[in-house]
Amino acid sequence: MVSSQSSPLLWRNITLFDGLEQFPEPMAVLVEHGLVAGLWLESEFDPSQASGAKEAASGGVMTPGLVDCHTHLVYAGDRAGEFEQRLEGVSYETIARNGGGILSSVRATRAASEDELIAASLPRLDALLADGVTTLEIKSGYGLTVADELKMLRVARRLGELRPVRVLTTLLGAHALPLEYTGRADDYVSLVCDEMIPAAAHERLADAVDVFCEGIAFSPAQCERVFQAAQRHGLAIKAHAEQLSNLGGSALAARYGALSADHIEYLDEAGVRAMAEPGTVAVLLPGAFHVLRETQLPPIDLLRQYGVPMAVASDANPGTSPICMPTLMANLACTLFRLTPREALAGMTAHGARALGLPHLGRIAVGAPADLCLWDIRQPAELAYAVQAGRLRQRVFNGVVTHAR
Ligand code: NIG
Ligand code: FE
Repeated sequence: MVSSQSSPLLWRNITLFDGLEQFPEPMAVLVEHGLVAGLWLESEFDPSQASGAKEAASGGVMTPGLVDCHTHLVYAGDRAGEFEQRLEGVSYETIARNGGGILSSVRATRAASEDELIAASLPRLDALLADGVTTLEIKSGYGLTVADELKMLRVARRLGELRPVRVLTTLLGAHALPLEYTGRADDYVSLVCDEMIPAAAHERLADAVDVFCEGIAFSPAQCERVFQAAQRHGLAIKAHAEQLSNLGGSALAARYGALSADHIEYLDEAGVRAMAEPGTVAVLLPGAFHVLRETQLPPIDLLRQYGVPMAVASDANPGTSPICMPTLMANLACTLFRLTPREALAGMTAHGARALGLPHLGRIAVGAPADLCLWDIRQPAELAYAVQAGRLRQRVFNGVVTHAR
C-alpha cells in the first residue's frame, strides 16, 4: 500500500483542478524531490522532459491533497445521547447551559490518557486520510486545564507523527467555561492568557490560538484578551464567531489580523467588510449547520462581493459535526450554502491552506509541495456532486504515494 520510493513520478492524461481552477485540457504532472516539478499540456508533453520518471498513473482527476482547516478530532467519549435530545427539541444552547455539550466531552477527555486519546482519534484521522486529506488542523478545547489542554495538543502532534499527514495545532482554551470556574469567567480567561498560552508557546505545542465568541462561551472583551496574549507569544489567531448570534467576534478577530473567522452564519456586512481588508478567511462549516439543523445561512453573496476567500472544513467534533468525510462537506457546502462545486473544492484546498497561514499548500503548481489526490471520477465537480466513499485512487504526501488502490 505504501511506497517510499524517491524516483521521479509521472502522471499522464490528468484532468487537473489546481486548487482554484480546472485546467481546460488534459495534463501531464511530474513530481520529484517532494515537489511538483513539471506541468505540461498532455498534447505538448515530450517524454524526454521527464526521462527516468516512473509512470504513477494515467487518467483520472487530480486535485491538491485536501486541507481540513478546522477540526476537533481529539476527544474521548461521544454525544449520541445529546443528538437524540436535540431531535426531541432541546436546543444546543440549553444542553450546554445544563452542563452538557462541550463540558460533557471535557469530562471524558480529562479522564483519558494520551494513549487512550490516540486510540480514540486514529480511526477518525484514518477516515479523513482515506477521503483525501493531506493537511489538517486539530484544536484542543476539551481539556480546559493547563495540563489537559497541553495533553490534547501533544496527542494532536503525535497523530501527525503516526500517519503521513501534516497536522497544525490550535490551542482552544477559551472554548467553554469549566465548571470549577462558574461565575469567574474572567479568572478563567486569565488562566488561558497567563498560563495556557505561554506554556503551549514555550513547548511549541500550538501553531495558533482560537476562541469561541458566543453567548454560551466568551464575550468579545474576553476574546480580545486572548488575542492579545496570542500576539504577545507570536501565535496566529482564529475565532469561532457568529455561529449562534452576532457579537462582532469576526470583526474583532480581523482587527487582530486573524487567519480566519469560522462558522459566521450570523455575520453582517460590516463584519464581512472588516474581514476583507486583512484577508481573514471565512471558514464555512456546513456539517455543524446541518447537524444543528440551523436555518440562518452565512452571507455567501456578501463574502463573494467583498472578495473574502471562503474555506470549507469538517469541524469534526463530537457535538455539532460528528462527521469525518471532507468530500461530504463539499457536497453540503453546495446543497446548503449554495457554493459552486468549484468554490467548494477551492475551499477545501487553496483557501483551506490560507486559513492555516500556509498559502503554498492546497495548490498544484510547479515548485509547490507534492500533496496530491488522484480520484476515480471524470470531472472535479463530481467530488461535490456525489457522496461516495472509496473514490480516492492515489494519495500523495510530500511526493510519496501513501495510499494506492
Ligand atoms: O465548532 N462552536 C463551538 N465549538 C464546536 C462544537 C464543540 C462541541 O459541541 O463539542 C463547533 O461547533
Ligand atoms: Fe469548531
